Amino acid sequence: MVVELAVTAVWAMLPAYLPNNVAVVAGGGPPIDGGRTWRGARLLGDGKTWRGLAAGVLAGLAAAIALTAVAPAAGDVLGVDVPRFPLAAAVALPAGALLGDIGASFVKRRLGRERGAAVPLLDQLDLVIGALALAFLLAPGWAADVFTPLVVIAVFVLTPALHLATNGIGYVLGVKREPW
Ligand code: CTP
Ligand code: MG
Repeated sequence: MVVELAVTAVWAMLPAYLPNNVAVVAGGGPPIDGGRTWRGARLLGDGKTWRGLAAGVLAGLAAAIALTAVAPAAGDVLGVDVPRFPLAAAVALPAGALLGDIGASFVKRRLGRERGAAVPLLDQLDLVIGALALAFLLAPGWAADVFTPLVVIAVFVLTPALHLATNGIGYVLGVKREPW
């Protein structure tokens, strides 16, 4: 039961998790805010780039398509009926994750935090809130089916731990500037 919840939660969120990591590796170039400031601070900052956004969404979409293709086989191996991703969900999860991340940067700049400053929980859960919100908006039937209240709780509990673990690895490998 707990294992099934955890497997479903992580599987359903993989297309939302991957974009952040891909953006770290593929990001760079012109910032989304074009360098604009508002009330003395950058709108979003240099950490949010068009290249990171585009590469992240494409990677998440590709991941959702691949996961859907292997879902039947993975279901057999894992013993859990893992979700497949209709196109609307395959777009909503990565796009929502990165929109949530952009929203968090907007909030961080308004709070006077520099690019890369750590804001615990906001840094880890921004993508969850964005991905779930956009999934429920663009693929409501699918989202209600997959993200039951218990799965949502599992997502909120597991994401910060997974996020810190992958970012820690990225930091040790030298691809990420901060370990959060
Ligand atoms: N990144 C990007 N484009 C995005 C998201 C992330 O290019 N849309 C890249 C940037 O190089 C960024 C890195 O991924 O520095 C890490 O992402 P994140 O931790 O979200 O950004 P921070 O640099 O910490 O900036 P912020 O304080 O605004 O979160
Ligand atoms: Mg950061």
